[in-house]
Amino acid sequence: MGGVPESAGARPRALVTGATAGIGAAFARRLAADGYALVLVARDGERLAGSAAELTGRYGVPADPLPADLSTDDGCAVVSERLREPFDLLVNSAGISLNRSFVRSDPEDEARLLRLNVHAVMRLTRAALPSMTARGRGAVINVSSVAGFGALMPGSTYSASKAWVTNFSESVALSVRSQGVRVMALCPGYVRTEFHDRAGIDMSKTPPWLWLQADDVVRDALRDLQKGKLISVPDWKYKLAVFGLRHSPAGLLRRVAGDTRGRIGRDVA
Ligand SMILES: NC(=O)c1ccc[n+]([C@@H]2O[C@H](COP(=O)([O-])OP(=O)(O)OC[C@H]3O[C@@H](n4cnc5c(N)ncnc54)[C@H](OP(=O)(O)O)[C@@H]3O)[C@@H](O)[C@H]2O)c1
Repeated sequence: MGGVPESAGARPRALVTGATAGIGAAFARRLAADGYALVLVARDGERLAGSAAELTGRYGVPADPLPADLSTDDGCAVVSERLREPFDLLVNSAGISLNRSFVRSDPEDEARLLRLNVHAVMRLTRAALPSMTARGRGAVINVSSVAGFGALMPGSTYSASKAWVTNFSESVALSVRSQGVRVMALCPGYVRTEFHDRAGIDMSKTPPWLWLQADDVVRDALRDLQKGKLISVPDWKYKLAVFGLRHSPAGLLRRVAGDTRGRIGRDVA
């Protein structure tokens, strides 16, 4: 069977981007606990080395830090080169959002968002698949978002980037599954991580019940991958939300669209 190897044989190998914080760090912890040898990618080399040492100390698995800025061509090239080696799992988790709506944002910031959220996901998926299809096994998890299911946040280009990740992952999944390889888009709702603070988005008005824990998101994602799902939406309330987004009339959705990202409004200037 394709996908994540079930046990026996050599230690499975995974490469995780965004591995020092949030969802990527939760993947790294869970995969280390499951016995994976890891390659961990993020920009901050010191933090990366600390995370790798901690995982090796705690779980006794090899963990290799690979510092790279995935919003650059050079960073993507370094990690793509590493992905020529055989890996059982690639997790593309590194991603950012912005705290301004499109007309007020800096075009350079918008380009950086696209390079990290879209271009890097394409480059690394493309780099990982040949050795997976050649071996007839392996999996790629691209961390997308519930936000990608609709243009519900006026002026948010983040949603558009995640719509691309989900559509891309599903499309590529269909093209490689007959070769024993799985590709899955992981679409969480709000997760308690460093993500919103980094973007400067005030989430203080978001009700506590909407927040998910990264470890739970990762548990659900790996379970869905084993089941062969192409899109994973952790937690029943977000499954319900996605059902609503997919089946409600577009006109209704447009009427209720509003920015839920704290202090960002429907501003146009
Ligand atoms: N948190 C949420 O509510 C939420 C909801 C839905 C989807 N997501 C998605 O989940 C993914 C992970 O987000 P998170 O919440 O875990 O974020 P996070 O806590 O902010 O962690 C981001 C990770 O990505 C790394 N990173 C950031 N920019 C990078 C770059 N240019 N090159 C390489 N690595 C980079 C960071 O390390 P360095 O700074 O050292 O590079 C860090 O390890 C993202 O794709 C995000 O869009 C998040």
